[in-house]
Amino acid sequence: MKSHNPLFSLLALLTPPLLFLSLLLLLHPIPTVGSSKPTATNTTDFIRTSCTATLYPDLCYNSLSGYANAVQADPARLARVAIAVSLSKTRYTARYLTNVTRRADYGADPRAASALHDCLSVFGDAIDQMRGSLKQMRQLGSGGESLLFQMSNVQTWMSAALTNEETCTDGFEDVANGDVKTDVTARVVKVKEVTSNALALVNSYASKVTAP
Ligand SMILES: *[C@@H]1O[C@H](CO)[C@@H](O)[C@H](O)[C@H]1NC(C)=O
Ligand SMILES: *[C@@H]1O[C@H](CO)[C@@H](O)[C@H](O)[C@H]1NC(C)=O
Repeated sequence: MKSHNPLFSLLALLTPPLLFLSLLLLLHPIPTVGSSKPTATNTTDFIRTSCTATLYPDLCYNSLSGYANAVQADPARLARVAIAVSLSKTRYTARYLTNVTRRADYGADPRAASALHDCLSVFGDAIDQMRGSLKQMRQLGSGGESLLFQMSNVQTWMSAALTNEETCTDGFEDVANGDVKTDVTARVVKVKEVTSNALALVNSYASKVTAP
């Protein structure tokens, strides 16, 4: 680890979730494998440009531009930060879903209760898949596996995580309209967008790796 990491000076300013993500980045520096020379003049510009590869570029920029100093102009770091942000939001949403199951009005519609139970289950799977992806991103270029193979694992897991989150909202399609359905689907749609963006940034970096 570099002794003069610029992140140190930022840490004091950050809120706890940001601090947590920053610590992750600090403690597990990304090896500079297949890195191209940074060309962007400014690191927020790099994030804005990279976000054009996603389905929700504004959300992408807004959720990731705060990490510009950690990302620099490194597409692997950007993909890793995007996964970390998606994991954090997915965990938060899972806690929210658990809270909903404790609400007084929750049991009123048995189909809503069943859909919510399924959501908690698929969110647990999505969290595991994102944790595996993050772990793999930290090990890029090491362990004797090719970068191509490692990135294809991350692509597979992030894609499965997105599918799991989609399964949650699909499960509410046949549920009668009501507060639980409205609240849950609105929140899950948001987290799905964040995960979709992370997958797009993963795919975008992976395509650079495979390029001859
Ligand atoms: C980077 O560029 C954006 C827009 O082009 C600008 O708002 C921002 O101040 C610039 N940041 C730095 C550090 O130059
Ligand atoms: C869950 O409920 C607790 C207690 O009501 C509350 O403090 C917390 O913010 C809630 N968490 C989420 C993610 O909604």
